[in-house]
Amino acid sequence: MKTIIEPFRIKSIEPIYFTTETERKQMLADVGYNLFGLKAENVIIDLLTDSGTSAMSAMQWAGIMNGDESYAGSRSFYRFEETIKKITGLTHIIPTHQGRAAEKILFSIVGGEGEIIPNNTHFDTTRANIEFSGAEAVDFLNENGKKPDFIADFKGNMDVEKLRTFLNEKAEKVPLVMLTITNNSGGGQPVSMENIRQVSEVCREFQKPFFLDACRFAENAYFIKIREKGYENKSILEICQEMFSYADGMTMSAKKDALVNIGGFLALNDSDLAQKCRNVLVVTEGFPTYGGLAGRDLEAIAQGLEEILDESYLHYRIRTIAYLGEKLVEAGVPLILPTGGHAVYLDAGKFCGHIPNYEFPGQAIACALYLKGGIRACEIGSIMFGKYDEIGNTVSPDLELVRLAIPRRVYTQSHIDYVAEVIIEVFQEREKLKGFKIVKEPTMLRHFTAEFAEL
Ligand code: F0G
Repeated sequence: MKTIIEPFRIKSIEPIYFTTETERKQMLADVGYNLFGLKAENVIIDLLTDSGTSAMSAMQWAGIMNGDESYAGSRSFYRFEETIKKITGLTHIIPTHQGRAAEKILFSIVGGEGEIIPNNTHFDTTRANIEFSGAEAVDFLNENGKKPDFIADFKGNMDVEKLRTFLNEKAEKVPLVMLTITNNSGGGQPVSMENIRQVSEVCREFQKPFFLDACRFAENAYFIKIREKGYENKSILEICQEMFSYADGMTMSAKKDALVNIGGFLALNDSDLAQKCRNVLVVTEGFPTYGGLAGRDLEAIAQGLEEILDESYLHYRIRTIAYLGEKLVEAGVPLILPTGGHAVYLDAGKFCGHIPNYEFPGQAIACALYLKGGIRACEIGSIMFGKYDEIGNTVSPDLELVRLAIPRRVYTQSHIDYVAEVIIEVFQEREKLKGFKIVKEPTMLRHFTAEFAEL
């Protein structure tokens, strides 16, 4: 049949509270036009992130009840470990409370002054943990990945030649190479198996460990299945096993493709490095068989990792994002194309051509979406990544974007239709949108707490 249906039915629901445009106007003013300041209850459709916002299955909730809360050697840990080993083939499995905790542990050991870590595009917490250790984070995204509406299958790929050239010059400074699948900061774009294999070959040539930032590994595997020659008849599990077979380790935020609300892990083959990681883990997270999580969380992650491999789920998942993208494209709304795995990214620079970068076009759109329809999205542009030069002018990143991240198994097709309708209405009235100025900002990560005034 042509209609793709949600491959689940709903057993438990949460109410959505409706607000009026007048109420939302007041709420926006009350929080200084920073959507992070809103009470979630006052949001109708929350697309701030796909992280930790998944709906768990009945089997996951059963796992929560069934979790073994023993301090050491919990049965739930062994299920967690076995499931991850089955999918990744990696040897040492180290649970952490979320993805950035795995990053923090890894880079506190391999990072430090003078070290440089390449990636296709580092996610902000990865970059922050690398920089916090004193090391430097560099991005080698392929050129097509930087063009918002250039249509290509694997815009998340790393530029392998750039990596090789870099290693030729600076190999002694590089403790490991990372690759983020899918590439969140670059629009949720997938990385091909060929690219994963090539990056791993370059790493082997220079004897560098190769790590995957694998938060959305199953979404990436599904793109390989439908877009890369030779994978159409392989199961998602087989594709995942091959992807991980090229890696020496991985960091994982279970809040994405493990379909849970909290959790993460670090997995790796090197026994010496694993021992060092566990030493830090005991100090910062917990004993190696729970690492910052409850037994019930480990159980829910193990179950979620089984469920994410279901092809009918991934088919529906990727189709949801494409469906929203197609409706917007039809109405002329500019976005990053093709749509990626977990979100639609509006090209705010084009959407609001009349608002200069230093007046934050992404923020103007994000506020308008909330005002018009109670939708919460996230600016990814000059507010999140902008810096000031010596004379106080804003230095902008390459793109001004607004991310609409879709939580897993939470919203139905009519919610997505509603989102499209709101965005299209805002787009049709885009000339009326005004820019913003910052009236208060912290010294770090300003997008979380800065306050704005409408111009
Ligand atoms: N790596 C990537 C690619 C991510 O997208 C995230 C989180 C992390 C690492 C860190 O994981 O949140 O569990 O500590 N991304 C979320 C987002 C926050 O909204 O994209 P975490």
